[in-house]
Amino acid sequence: MSWWKEAVFYHIYPKSFYDSNGDGIGDIGGIIQKLDYLNGTPDSLGIDAIWLSPVYPSPMVDGGYDVANYIDIDPMFGTLDTFSLLIKEAHKRDIKIIMDLVINHTSDKHPWFIESSSSRDNPKSDWYIWKNPEDQKPPNKWLSAFGGSAWKFNEDRNQYYLHSFAKEMPDLNWRNPEVKEEIFKSIRFWLDLGVDGFRLDVVNYYVKDIEFRNNPSYFYKSLRAYDCQVHIYDRNRPETHEILKDFRKLLDSYTDRVSIGEVFQPPPGSSKLPAAFYGEKSDELHLNFNFAFTYCKWNPIQFMEAIVAWEKSLKSSDWPTYFLSNHDFKRHISRYGNGNNAIPRAKIAALMLLTLKGTPFLYYGEELGMLSERIPYKKIQDPAGKKYWPIFPGRDISRLPMCWENGLNAGFSTVEPWLPINQEYHKTNVKTEAKSRKSLLTFYKKLIAIRKKYDSLRIGSFEPIDLDSERIMAYLRKIDKKEQMLILLNFSDKKDKFILENRPIPLRNAQVIFSTHKREDSGINIAIIHLEPYEGTIVKLE
Ligand code: NOJ
Repeated sequence: MSWWKEAVFYHIYPKSFYDSNGDGIGDIGGIIQKLDYLNGTPDSLGIDAIWLSPVYPSPMVDGGYDVANYIDIDPMFGTLDTFSLLIKEAHKRDIKIIMDLVINHTSDKHPWFIESSSSRDNPKSDWYIWKNPEDQKPPNKWLSAFGGSAWKFNEDRNQYYLHSFAKEMPDLNWRNPEVKEEIFKSIRFWLDLGVDGFRLDVVNYYVKDIEFRNNPSYFYKSLRAYDCQVHIYDRNRPETHEILKDFRKLLDSYTDRVSIGEVFQPPPGSSKLPAAFYGEKSDELHLNFNFAFTYCKWNPIQFMEAIVAWEKSLKSSDWPTYFLSNHDFKRHISRYGNGNNAIPRAKIAALMLLTLKGTPFLYYGEELGMLSERIPYKKIQDPAGKKYWPIFPGRDISRLPMCWENGLNAGFSTVEPWLPINQEYHKTNVKTEAKSRKSLLTFYKKLIAIRKKYDSLRIGSFEPIDLDSERIMAYLRKIDKKEQMLILLNFSDKKDKFILENRPIPLRNAQVIFSTHKREDSGINIAIIHLEPYEGTIVKLE
């Protein structure tokens, strides 16, 4: 079984994890210092792989997603030596390191773009997407995800260039074989250094329509005009799959490396789109993110529909992935919880995430229950946040510094951090929660340990139990008759019961192996299982 099918991934936003050099910004040295928190000691969280948001040299217009050099590390984060040390120290603790590969666009400060924009006849003139004006206007109606037209006029060339995101992030021309060759060289550079794989940023955006046709529009209630276009011409082009097949061949020429595609999709998040990026012959990406969960309301029926659709869209050779939070969305604890129900709901969500069939991705701080919190306009760093404020508070709300302890700057830094500290840091922090048996952190640690202990929870089949209930979600994870788990999740604040009658589980002995409420390692009669409000329980069927 491939390691990445059984692994728990942990996503780190490097500027916000731990500041080791006292400049208020998280760095690679900081991650190295905190590796024991993640794995390698009996008290660690127990994760198996880190996905690191970009650490390449960057003007940081978009938090590093604007790359100015593909084969170096930004001095803000460290050096290539610090990065090599991170790989070495992580591997010692059985943690893999996955980098973010941001190759739809570069920074406008990348030497390739500086050269490309200098004239129409330089050697890199065709490395980006340049078009002549149409009646002195942009060549078509494509929009930037960060607002306004996707085209920016350049006086030196008297032409427009395409930017799917900020104007400082020009899109590369993937129809040019030289671009591909140069990017593939950089990929080899990191693989040779020992990274275990890549998360591919906006992988469905690489290739654009050769005729630059306008997208059809459709009615959708959104703040962004961008969401009112059906993006069939500026993303999701079939040619992308050819690039990914070659990328996969390159990756497979190394041992045990993994790829995860960010297949961004508008609500409700169709599972067919990410499924396509595994490749018709499972010869493209190993894993792909499906955004369906980020669009689900707190309702087990909605989650179950998303899971079943994902399972149905994948071939038997493909493997699902699940996540609830990342650096682009409001954290799920803040989407679903409000006051007293936040932690109970976060526990139910974690139990689901870590017992589904598929690779789970956690986002730093979710194990503590860190909230997404609005910050004052003058502190906003996110370009999308500045554009749409105050209606949209920006993505910084989910990028606040990790809370390590109830002390100065929550133990993140000795000086004022680059973004404010969460208001509840005095109780929501690693040190305080590690001491409490009831904390969310202790809950995640135990849950990850249970997942490690029982094969069925990692690699067993998934069988939903169709309850059609707005309150309870139930499913089985099985390895034939060898090991069978029944997972029951009460999403509601009311007591309820799960009745076995007419359900596809033969009556037999059973044991509670993990529960928010019940005594663990105790026998249970499964004919009727009473559930407390927000109870989650894993029952092992003997
Ligand atoms: C997706 C990344 O997750 C997001 O943070 C970034 O702004 C865009 N891609 C552009 O790279």
